[in-house]
Amino acid sequence: MRTFLVILSLIYSTYSYNFLVFCPLFGHSHTKFFATIADALTDAGHNVTFFTPTIVEKYRNVSYTKLTKDVVHMDAPKKLMEYGEQMESADFSRFWTEDSSFYNVGAADLYRCSIRLNGLFKSLMDYLNIKTFIPSLSLTHDVYLSKAIGEPVMPSVVSDVCSPFGDKLSLLERAFNAFAVPYIDIVLGYPVHNTLSAPYTEIDIRTIEPEASFLFLNSNPFLDFPRPTLTKTVEIGGITVDLNQLKSQQLDSKWSDILNLREKTMLVSFGSVFFSKDMPLENKKVIANSMTEFKNVTFIWKYEGNDIEDFARGIQNIHFVKWVPQTALLANRRLSAFFTHAGLGSINEVSYLGKPSILCPLFADQMRNAKMLVRHNGSIELSKYDLGNSKKIIEAFQAILFDSSYAENAQKLAEQLENQPIKPEKMMVKHAEFAARFGRLPSLDPYSRKMSFVEYFLLDVATICVLVLACVVFVLTRVVQFLCRRFLVKIKTE
Ligand SMILES: *[C@@H]1O[C@H](CO)[C@@H](O)[C@H](O)[C@H]1NC(C)=O
Ligand SMILES: *[C@@H]1O[C@H](CO)[C@@H](O)[C@H](O)[C@H]1NC(C)=O
Repeated sequence: MRTFLVILSLIYSTYSYNFLVFCPLFGHSHTKFFATIADALTDAGHNVTFFTPTIVEKYRNVSYTKLTKDVVHMDAPKKLMEYGEQMESADFSRFWTEDSSFYNVGAADLYRCSIRLNGLFKSLMDYLNIKTFIPSLSLTHDVYLSKAIGEPVMPSVVSDVCSPFGDKLSLLERAFNAFAVPYIDIVLGYPVHNTLSAPYTEIDIRTIEPEASFLFLNSNPFLDFPRPTLTKTVEIGGITVDLNQLKSQQLDSKWSDILNLREKTMLVSFGSVFFSKDMPLENKKVIANSMTEFKNVTFIWKYEGNDIEDFARGIQNIHFVKWVPQTALLANRRLSAFFTHAGLGSINEVSYLGKPSILCPLFADQMRNAKMLVRHNGSIELSKYDLGNSKKIIEAFQAILFDSSYAENAQKLAEQLENQPIKPEKMMVKHAEFAARFGRLPSLDPYSRKMSFVEYFLLDVATICVLVLACVVFVLTRVVQFLCRRFLVKIKTE
């Protein structure tokens, strides 16, 4: 789930450009992001090949691309498919109660998996003689990739994507940021890999990354925390949200009737990786009981289990369903609020559709995503450790449903996203075409990335300043001492 440096490569041709979108098939939202890129390029009239080495078997038959017809499947190398199986069989239910910051979730395997993917990609580039590429990330950012291309990633400002911090960092958090990056390098090793075909030369992906023409990130500058970036960094977050399509969705009468039951309706869903059924029973009881306090609110709860009687017997205002038309509900005027984990996909949807939300992050980048959206004052963060605390839950429900400022702020953010000066899709297509036309862009490569730590942080300058200052102070004290002595001697002799 991290460092999925996946690369979009370009070949120049006379009329339209040939693009190869390299998208290892493993995660739903990840694949959706790359399929959207492929479709946008196809829509702009280019010849796009969507190449997806299968890492996770179950996605093989999902057709992610709509317009792009040239889709090439391939079995990924055996080792990668093993990682895929591990990822699939991983037990996510424990994250309802356990700490799940990145450093705790089998990061090493994922990290090695991504390095192998990079190796696979590099071999492919060599084989097809592709020179121009655009690493793209279905996450908001990646500190390692940023560092590699020379983006300023001051640990006091930029946290790792899977860290649980927002933008106001305490001393300890800044210290954590400062040490986390070198820690990973030391513990997991520098990402070196051999090409997959003869002569099996070593690939050090970080020496290749700076040659990227651009970088596409799934971060939206009007939603994300502001941070310094380079011209090379193109933020296309929101590209997966097709607002017209979302708004035109119709709800069938069954759902429409549910929305008409009470004055307000809240949707409760934790996505497709985490299941409400895996939540501790105690928490389910507390949440269900808290819901009974709101007689005029219907709760639509996506719940995958059959043990509803164990915690919600006789409760009238909760509708348990195994599947929800999430975006159609979010797009509906009658839905009042959304209670969700903070997966980037859901965060983007709820932001564009302008609904107030309660965010309960469970895992990986969700902690940061939650803080990112809360900053816009249209949502409330609820810790997973507070899911057994009825007071906090009731407070959050009360505020999100009845304090209209949340709805207003959520709406304001949605309007800003809808009216963004340059739409993510256009931004992506224009930059991809520019890269296809001009190839690698060494003029965008900052010299600063080659500077040493001492030079970059002006430690040499600071040292010299301190030394000069020390000399001046030393000389001055000596002069004063000398004058004092002369003066005192003079007084005494008089
Ligand atoms: C489109 O791309 C494919 C695969 O690279 C290639 O075989 C085909 O000739 C291209 N078509 C055009 C019109 O360039
Ligand atoms: C959110 O509210 C705080 C406190 O009232 C305010 O300082 C901040 O500017 C608001 N943020 C946005 C994005 O409106």
